[in-house]
Amino acid sequence: MDRYCVFGNPIAHSKSPEIHAAFAAQTGQQLSYEKRLAPLDGFAQAVQDFIAEGGKGANVTLPFKLEAHALADALTVRAQAAGAVNTLLFGADGIVGDNTDGAGLVADITRNAGVPLAGKRVLLLGAGGAARGAVLPILEHRPSAMVIANRTVANAEALVQQFSALAGTGVLSASAFEALQGSFDIVINATSASLNAALPPIPATVFHQGTLALDMMYGKEPTVFMQFAAEHGATVRDGLGMLVEQAAEAFQGWRGVRPETSALLVQMRSKL
Ligand code: ATR
Repeated sequence: MDRYCVFGNPIAHSKSPEIHAAFAAQTGQQLSYEKRLAPLDGFAQAVQDFIAEGGKGANVTLPFKLEAHALADALTVRAQAAGAVNTLLFGADGIVGDNTDGAGLVADITRNAGVPLAGKRVLLLGAGGAARGAVLPILEHRPSAMVIANRTVANAEALVQQFSALAGTGVLSASAFEALQGSFDIVINATSASLNAALPPIPATVFHQGTLALDMMYGKEPTVFMQFAAEHGATVRDGLGMLVEQAAEAFQGWRGVRPETSALLVQMRSKL
């Protein structure tokens, strides 16, 4: 049976084994998927050990996504753009590093929420690792405008510089939270502020009636960002769909078949 795993530290909380077991059952794929606690100073060795045991691929979560990027012998375009790796494929040519987080976000927006990105005004809050991984997959859908706003504006400007050639003239710009002007069709919170129940100081005018506001965080209760957005007319979503969709993208990369996600998403929501 083909073996996969997820590396992290800590790892006990990971929902990935449950998600991939459900995908395997649904698609009739014979595989096993386990959690592996890698020592903080022993990620590369843990990967080599798993390969020696016959592992075919792995997911990588905190704090190893940058190390996985450095470890890979080859990177997909989206992993290069993200500067981080959450999915590894072990093959004859060595270790291939991929990043499915941004594609998972886009799949959740376009497929699950049913909101196209093409021609839309998109606001991305944050300029850390999570935000960086989202930029290329969003731009591939050709929004009419994309503003990256961040507490440290220089970090948003660096992302704009990295992706401006690809975005097309005038599409991509950076901003401070307080300086945001106009409303947006889609607002994505990729800051880690929700972890501390904090809200980036954005004007309420970024939302209009029906704006899709998505927080990459998820939990039983809506985040402060989701509450604020809903109070100002937005339709809100948390990051659970993104979690399931990034897993579906990884599964497809390994097995060549994309699982159906909607039933699993409902089931996982009920267990939060
Ligand atoms: P991640 O991998 O989750 O993206 P990260 O790379 O540490 O983590 O990035 C965290 C992001 O959340 C950054 O954009 C950070 O802003 P700065 O670049 O100014 O540090 C943002 N962030 C964290 N706490 C925040 C808060 N309380 N309010 C607003 N933004 C916050």
